[in-house]
Amino acid sequence: MKILITGANGMVARATAKFCRSIGDETVALTRDELDIADQLRVFELFEEEKFDAVINCAAYTDVDGSEKEEDKCFAANVAGVENLAHAAKKIGCRFATISTDYVFDGAKTDFYTQRDTPNPQGVYGQMKFLGENLAHRAYARTMIVRSGWIYGHGGTNFLSVMDKLLADGKPVKAIFDSYGTPTFANDLARRLRELVELDLPAIYHVTNSGLGTSYAGFAEKVCELRGYNKKLLKPAAADSLKRPAPRPKSSKLACLFSERFGLAPLPHWETALAEFLK
Ligand SMILES: NC(=O)c1ccc[n+]([C@@H]2O[C@H](COP(=O)([O-])OP(=O)(O)OC[C@H]3O[C@@H](n4cnc5c(N)ncnc54)[C@H](OP(=O)(O)O)[C@@H]3O)[C@@H](O)[C@H]2O)c1
Repeated sequence: MKILITGANGMVARATAKFCRSIGDETVALTRDELDIADQLRVFELFEEEKFDAVINCAAYTDVDGSEKEEDKCFAANVAGVENLAHAAKKIGCRFATISTDYVFDGAKTDFYTQRDTPNPQGVYGQMKFLGENLAHRAYARTMIVRSGWIYGHGGTNFLSVMDKLLADGKPVKAIFDSYGTPTFANDLARRLRELVELDLPAIYHVTNSGLGTSYAGFAEKVCELRGYNKKLLKPAAADSLKRPAPRPKSSKLACLFSERFGLAPLPHWETALAEFLK
């Protein structure tokens, strides 16, 4: 399959490109410098030239707090860019998957969010991602929207790498005890993204590692256990005490109504995935 991966310098894009190459796909992974998805003309030209079989959009403006101030940048990547890709994919009739977020939900539900739950994003980042979902679907009915959350992976900075470095240096970590999610190893998400473009069944998917999810503190405790760090470095704190500019859902655990019904095996339990990653 000839497959385009956008945002190639990003964490999920790197894992996805690596996986696609490992299974023999003709993988075209383009960084923002090589393809700015907000540049409609360039996107259309590229798709006409390259005639991809599938596109996995991993490009996004991902600075959740920054989005509150840089609404334009967030809109360009997370709304206009996604819509551009959907139109261009439609024009050449290729498969199209784009990644969205657990932050489309408001966090008021303590149980898992499924596709039956109506999004109600609280911050600009979540609002833009939700708008991107809607416009992509309207532009191209073949769009697969893949919501995920709490993603960690190799290289770059993410919520796990920050925590891991502090703990490795013997520094305290604020262990947020009232924020819940379903952690996701980028390599597992990458494999699932590729399975979904193979399946080519347009829908919204929720893709995370399996299990009951955890709090940020629970995740941090597991990291300590697996790495042998001193749990006393974990300092319990409430999410509100961080006073972050953007509101975040208190609980954004995701579960998928479709994946297993469509014949896809559940992704590994989040603890297994974490152990695999830390190995
Ligand atoms: N990380 C998480 O916990 C998490 C949770 C839920 C959902 N997601 C979603 O998962 C997807 C992948 O996220 P990630 O964690 O891999 O993010 P990431 O590491 O920040 O990568 C995003 C990449 O997109 C690129 N980009 C930004 N604007 C672009 C544009 N206009 N055109 C082309 N590329 C552009 C960035 O380029 P620069 O390097 O030049 O900035 C960056 O390389 C995103 O859709 C994100 O919203 C992530």
